[in-house]
Amino acid sequence: MMSRFIALEGADGCGKSTQVERLADWLRSAGEEVITVREPGSTSLGERVRDILLDGDEPLCAEAEALLFLSSRAQLLDEVIEPALEAGQWVIADRFHLSTVVYQGLAGELGEARAAQLCQVVLGDRRPSLNIVLEIHVEQLSQRLALRSGATDRFESRPGLAQRTVAAFEKVVGIEGDRVVRIDGRLDANQVEARIRQEVADVLR
Ligand code: TYD
Repeated sequence: MMSRFIALEGADGCGKSTQVERLADWLRSAGEEVITVREPGSTSLGERVRDILLDGDEPLCAEAEALLFLSSRAQLLDEVIEPALEAGQWVIADRFHLSTVVYQGLAGELGEARAAQLCQVVLGDRRPSLNIVLEIHVEQLSQRLALRSGATDRFESRPGLAQRTVAAFEKVVGIEGDRVVRIDGRLDANQVEARIRQEVADVLR
């Protein structure tokens, strides 16, 4: 497990992107150097892979889809995350491997065990020391998704996937050794932020 490396996870619309920024700002205000990354993306390869993944017109079988997420992640580790951690910086990831275990595994076609196994092959111990899941409820999901506009991507357009991911994030355990904590997304953003700070302070102890 990599210390100073934290992933924020959750179903689409759970508010994790806001919390990634707030956590990064809090650590910076304590004098830490912090970078944030998003998955898939944050490298040149990752952004290209992201375009393929989100393009619903590109046929992709379940294993190819998972391996594309993992190829983006392997590049991100090598190019960005490992050098940052070696330089003593913090890395906050907006999604990491738990998203693959949920979207392609529990809520997708691969099942949890197969998705976790593929992640394990690529990542080994190169995983966050803390995975924070922001849990939302199905009622909240429809409200939040209704506020979104624009074209829907491969994942947004899959029938029932959003609902299945909400349930999957409630029970996902990830790969053996993963530390997963869940925070109730019904709390307001300031309360969620405070809970996240507590969890991060706990892993530092
Ligand atoms: P993201 O950029 O987080 O979408 P949003 O900003 O809309 O929350 O992720 C893009 C989509 O990719 C999202 O629907 C979740 C999906 N995804 C997977 O299916 N597997 C993965 O491993 C990751 C990282 C994301």
